[in-house]
Amino acid sequence: MTATSPSPAVPTAGTWSAPGRVNLIGEHTDYNDGFVFPFAIEHRTRVDLTTGRDGVIRVRSSFAPDPVELPLAELDALFPARRDEITEWARYPLGVAWALLDETQTDPASVTGVDLLFSSDVPVGAGLSSSAAIEGATAAALNDVWDLGLDSVALARIGRRAENDAVGAPTGIMDQTAAMRGRADAGIFLDCRTLDAEIIPLGFAAAGLEVLVIDTRVSHAHSTGGYRERREACERGAALLGVPALRDVSVDDLPRAEELMDDVTFRRVRHVVTEDQRVLDAVRTLQGDGPRAVGPLLDASHASMRDDFGISTPELDLAVTTARAAGAVGARMTGGGFGGAAIALIDHELVPAATSAIETAFADAGFTAPHIFTVHPSDGARRDA
Ligand code: GLA
Repeated sequence: MTATSPSPAVPTAGTWSAPGRVNLIGEHTDYNDGFVFPFAIEHRTRVDLTTGRDGVIRVRSSFAPDPVELPLAELDALFPARRDEITEWARYPLGVAWALLDETQTDPASVTGVDLLFSSDVPVGAGLSSSAAIEGATAAALNDVWDLGLDSVALARIGRRAENDAVGAPTGIMDQTAAMRGRADAGIFLDCRTLDAEIIPLGFAAAGLEVLVIDTRVSHAHSTGGYRERREACERGAALLGVPALRDVSVDDLPRAEELMDDVTFRRVRHVVTEDQRVLDAVRTLQGDGPRAVGPLLDASHASMRDDFGISTPELDLAVTTARAAGAVGARMTGGGFGGAAIALIDHELVPAATSAIETAFADAGFTAPHIFTVHPSDGARRDA
């Protein structure tokens, strides 16, 4: 491992990028084969790719300048069994390279060596999927340079495999799908069982609305603890109900579910089942009555995550209640929970007052100052140069 910069004589093969995401609604439904409705945001991770030494992959980033370099032929022995030997951030791009070669049964000796340099403005630890942005940028770049011919659905699957097996975080496929398949001004209504996606125009700007992100700056870690536990509770609930996944349970089945399981498992199940329904309702409401009418569904989603799924925090709850009191049409935490960010759908002209109300409320509560900014639905992974 050396820290030398690429020689200026080596031509840049290209630049690719992929975005972070905000999930509008549909939380912890993806790994239950359910529905989600995220959108890609304008914050992106960019990768400059140069062809590297034969048979070698080298990754560097502006946030962890020490390069990690290894023979492509060694990836297979490393993932998943020996992943702990790799610096955590580097598991994302190296995991994508491994999953791409493995899924396509490509001989590592047949592809060009690569040198990948990452930079990003996706906030890390905010629940905005900085990891899926790295995966998406890497997958798009290597798919092109290695001429693998995979489409965006397959590349999202590759990203999830890297996250699950190379990083060890038991996530679903929502974030990678948003990073790969996002579109400007639109949300992605995704069926996580079939991976069929509908691109749904959101019309926020036309309605005078903004999506305000309130990053609580309380960090979260999906690969540990709470996320895994919630996933296990969902699997337990589905097994007790005799179905492959909670996707197969409807709101009408909940009274029967309540009799079959302990209270905590039941509340986890109820969140997922009602959240799936809220995603379907949100898409229908948006298309019928417009974006403003979606607000109450966002509020109900937050209440369900706070009370039934148990993944909110005092900071997220304060962000949501303060945004609502400041005139937001709806607000909820977004992403995996246990910290990270909340979103509020709010009139453009109310943004400054809501921002200072939230800042004041956080200061009064003695919480870390939040990072508050607007986001706009943006395009997914692409080649930029
Ligand atoms: C994280 C995971 C996603 C999804 C969300 C919760 O962002 O990466 O797969 O499960 O949490 O909806």
